[in-house]
Amino acid sequence: MNPKHSFLIESFVGLGALLLIVSALGLYILNEPVRIVQAQDEVLAVQLDEAMTLYAENCAVCHGSNGEGIGATPPLNNPALLTMPYEDLYKTIARGRYQTAMPAWSIEDGGALSDYQIDELVLLILHGDWGETGDRVVNLGLAPLIPFTTEADPALLEEIGKLPDGATLQTAITLFAANCVSCHGADGVGTGIAPALNDPTVREKTPDEITRIITYGNTGTLMAGWGNILAPEDISALVTLIQRWEEVPSGTIPAPDVPIAVTEESLALGSQLYAANCSRCHGPEGQGTPRAPSLNVKSFLTETSDQAIQQIVTLGVPGTAMPTWGDRMTEAEIQAIVGFIRQWEPTAPEVAVLTRPGGGGPPWSRTDTSTTAPGLMPSTSSSTGTNTTDATTNPLTGINGSGQTVLQAILDWRLLVLLGVILSIAFTLIYSGLDALRRMPRNTG
Ligand code: HEC
Ligand code: HEC
Ligand code: HEC
Repeated sequence: MNPKHSFLIESFVGLGALLLIVSALGLYILNEPVRIVQAQDEVLAVQLDEAMTLYAENCAVCHGSNGEGIGATPPLNNPALLTMPYEDLYKTIARGRYQTAMPAWSIEDGGALSDYQIDELVLLILHGDWGETGDRVVNLGLAPLIPFTTEADPALLEEIGKLPDGATLQTAITLFAANCVSCHGADGVGTGIAPALNDPTVREKTPDEITRIITYGNTGTLMAGWGNILAPEDISALVTLIQRWEEVPSGTIPAPDVPIAVTEESLALGSQLYAANCSRCHGPEGQGTPRAPSLNVKSFLTETSDQAIQQIVTLGVPGTAMPTWGDRMTEAEIQAIVGFIRQWEPTAPEVAVLTRPGGGGPPWSRTDTSTTAPGLMPSTSSSTGTNTTDATTNPLTGINGSGQTVLQAILDWRLLVLLGVILSIAFTLIYSGLDALRRMPRNTG
């Protein structure tokens, strides 16, 4: 080829490469404001994400899963709050509202939250998505029991009246059911957010100590002071109850019969946990096996509340093969399983259809004695002969979360390769352009 032509071509290519880089740089600079806004949006998204967890852990119990307010506690999804100045919202959360149940949250005021976290909560109130927040609260197993209060079992309450100083216990049980049950749980057994009060360790505290905690609260925790709300004799009755709780039969302060809230995520988790832990005894679709009764049957599901199922699963059934799950699973996980089991109700058969021929007494009680190691039994799906695809494919939705990160990884990987290719092309072009320039004097001369 004519060297003059090849020189011309090479310098055009070099010039082209230069133009390409300059215009790319120009575009990048022009795009900078957009990029800054995008980066700010990303920061806000991270802050809102953190705020939703903070809300679930600290605020949902009083203000509701979706910020809708509970009883006398005001809603936070209230449009009026959007017009409240930022400083006022910040101060309300940081310092609390004096003489109300709204605690102070900033560390300076004895609370548990940093300035940054309070700022995030204000952002949540101003820019957050309450539907998403409600899902977060449910997924963390922190959805408050609504209604906030419950009622003592009248028959048991009457029995308690016959105990020495029974009237004081009756008063305290009524107060507890109305004010404390939402955090400290039915029968004072505790919940995910507050400790058990029917526990012997609480009785190790002196009556004075317990009185002080109920009157003034524990700053920095959800335990507000009740001194402004309850009379001193009410508080003293509650102290008596806490000290004499072993005399109170279980079931006196029942859990309110409210369905456990579910989300797509919690159902997927429940399905996964059920398949991994329960199906080998209760059957992949809850139809029951010779080792354990059917759970997927109308009579059981209509007669048993979500709270009751949660309690059975948490505590197990002593003296049977039904294990205690409370020490192996979180409250959120057990609630997810209960939500999954509850899903069967609309299509549950009237009568449990066990595949093994029966012969007097429940079949699981017979096999119970013959085998103590359920893990060694042959797979339940083959013995029951039912289609297990439902139970095994459902967890797919649960993998969604990690699936997304895989997608992100692929995107990142593609971007890197693209960047590498662009860079190497640019370098080759610049090099050939420079090379042509270097050879210029020789060619023209
Ligand atoms: C123990 C119950 C309780 C908890 C926990 C709680 N609040 Fe409150 N909150 C209240 C009550 C009661 C009020 C109403 C106070 C009043 O009467 O002015 C309130 C008021 C508010 C207000 C003002 C609403 C308005 O309309 O003026 C905001 C904002 C607020 N709370 C945010 C929060 C945030 C954020 C959290 C979690 C960090 C939280 N609260 C936790 C009980 C609670
Ligand atoms: C908003 C939730 C909430 C409510 C409502 C609530 N508590 Fe508490 N309570 C807590 C939390 C959280 C703690 C643990 C505080 C800590 O970590 O120090 C606690 C601690 C206590 C303790 C000390 C327990 C111990 O082991 O040290 C007592 C006693 C107590 N609460 C009594 C009551 C009584 C009585 C009521 C009703 C009048 C009540 N609480 C209402 C959340 C609550
Ligand atoms: C080792 C076998 C085994 C495993 C594993 C098992 N269960 Fe059970 N389960 C039983 C037996 C046996 C009973 C019946 C107890 C009885 O006789 O009251 C039972 C009873 C129950 C009941 C009460 C049923 C009723 O009709 O009253 C529920 C609810 C329950 N199990 C849920 C679960 C859940 C949820 C899991 C998984 C987290 C699970 N079980 C795992 C053996 C098992």
